[in-house]
Amino acid sequence: MFATQQHKLTSFNEFLLLNQEPLTKTKGNYSLILNYIQDCCKTISGYVRNIGLADLLGYNTSLNASGDLMAKLDVFANSVFGKAFKNSKLLYAFASEEDETITYLNKDSSYILSIDPIDGSKQSQIHLPSGSIFCLYKKTKDNQLSTGNIVCAGYCLYSSATVLLYVDKVRSALFLLDSATGNFFLAKENLKLPDKGTDYSVNEAYINDFYDKDKTYLNKLKQQKYSLRYVGTLVADMHRTILQGGVFLYPFTKTNQTGKLRVVFEILPFSFIINKLGGKVKTSATKIKLSNKTVHNKADFMAGSIKELNYY
Ligand code: AHG
Ligand code: MN
Ligand code: MN
Repeated sequence: MFATQQHKLTSFNEFLLLNQEPLTKTKGNYSLILNYIQDCCKTISGYVRNIGLADLLGYNTSLNASGDLMAKLDVFANSVFGKAFKNSKLLYAFASEEDETITYLNKDSSYILSIDPIDGSKQSQIHLPSGSIFCLYKKTKDNQLSTGNIVCAGYCLYSSATVLLYVDKVRSALFLLDSATGNFFLAKENLKLPDKGTDYSVNEAYINDFYDKDKTYLNKLKQQKYSLRYVGTLVADMHRTILQGGVFLYPFTKTNQTGKLRVVFEILPFSFIINKLGGKVKTSATKIKLSNKTVHNKADFMAGSIKELNYY
């Protein structure tokens, strides 16, 4: 705790234990799952910062299920989450962007956890922001995943600070990792996306492949003197959009009609987060029937402030 602080800071653990009642009606240990997630994020944060010193730079020769080269950091972070959850009985199922298939663990648990262990692994190689995305779904009889059965979702951003954003059905909060105590401390509660922003975020290098609808939309933003900001790490680009408003776009293009962002690991968690924080989302992927065949499906994703999304 900072000596200058007048009040005791609230740790993520304390925050979880307060008012968790509406969330714990499902079978399973809700706060323990979230505790494991924060521990994994703390570990990964340390190694992201030491990446050049800890022999974690560079790529393996194998491709993951999405056909992307796996960075050593992807493999490491995946093993951190895997070690935490695959030996536990906390989950019905565990799905990771870096695992080919879903791991089924305990049929008596109600929870399915999806993890993008490192989002923006390309950026992490040169010490630019990266993140981890988590999403806890309540199991349904027909194995459907949608924002409707998400219990909570969030991300950890590894940037100039390590930031944890947590959103559930009734609460939202942002925590900062305190390097002195190793705790995530509450920095902001009840987050609300601004109704309008001043930035748009898109990989505009693909402009020649964009459909006319997207070209026209981007021109409209330019006419209104919007600025372009694009990190290339979804967590970082969404974090800016959440705090400052504006719009993020990763549309289908003429040469990529499946999209790039992953439904289970990226689109559904961020759809839940943005909707809960008062923003708006457009995507063709509002639900998915979970199986080893569909778990790595991709789609288009546009999200941000109400004003900008209303005329997309
Ligand atoms: P990941 O590192 O998990 O594979 O995700 C990379 C994603 C996402 O973070 C980002 O928004 C997008 O790739 C960037 O794609 P482009 O390089 O095509 O802009
Ligand atoms: Mn990702
Ligand atoms: Mn990833």
